[in-house]
Amino acid sequence: MIATVRECTEADAATLALIGAATLLEAFAGFVPGDALLAHCRKYHFPAAYESALQQPQTRAWLAEVEPGAAPVGYAMLTAPDFPAGLSHEGDLELRRIYLFSKFHGSGASRRMMDLAVASARQQNAKRLLLGVHPDNQRALAFYRKVGFVQIGVRTFHVGDCAFQDPVLALSLNAE
Ligand SMILES: CC(C)(COP(=O)(O)OP(=O)(O)OC[C@H]1O[C@@H](n2cnc3c(N)ncnc32)[C@H](O)[C@@H]1OP(=O)(O)O)[C@@H](O)C(=O)NCCC(=O)NCCS
Repeated sequence: MIATVRECTEADAATLALIGAATLLEAFAGFVPGDALLAHCRKYHFPAAYESALQQPQTRAWLAEVEPGAAPVGYAMLTAPDFPAGLSHEGDLELRRIYLFSKFHGSGASRRMMDLAVASARQQNAKRLLLGVHPDNQRALAFYRKVGFVQIGVRTFHVGDCAFQDPVLALSLNAE
């Protein structure tokens, strides 16, 4: 099944909140405690949070959808960076989230979302694209390495009251 990818507007905030929570649960249930996952969903994945994120000048989001009827199966979001001092610098942007339901892994949809995020970061004259990833997320780490990301550090990431030491990766966007 082919997923198509399109850029979001503020009108997509409710859909983004839904796919944000659903893909987070699918990816981390059985791996991160349920109460921590649910607390994280309640704190970050609600329509007004996405609406306000999309009002920020550097934020862009994309939805992956399938027919019939453009059902959402994944999303990606580019934002201003939110990393501890010393890890990010002027000119960085963050690939805050890139999530696809597992049924669509390997379909090329995440590569399309990544290409769009990189193109948008370049268009915004960003020098680097940063991201944080769970240290045990081998599939995501392999995907990021294939795209060209390299590790530049570690940050503490909280999901509910669980803390993880996430590798922080960077992709240089200097002219090729
Ligand atoms: C991360 C994600 C967007 C990548 O998309 P994808 O469609 O799975 O990516 P691809 O299939 O193009 O690439 C994944 C690569 O990892 C490899 N891989 C898969 N499982 C692996 C594993 N357990 N260990 C190492 N490599 C693995 C795949 O073989 C593939 O490499 P290949 O193309 O050379 O064969 C997707 O897996 C996803 O949504 N995961 C769940 C949510 C998530 O973790 N998001 C990122 C949070 S930081």
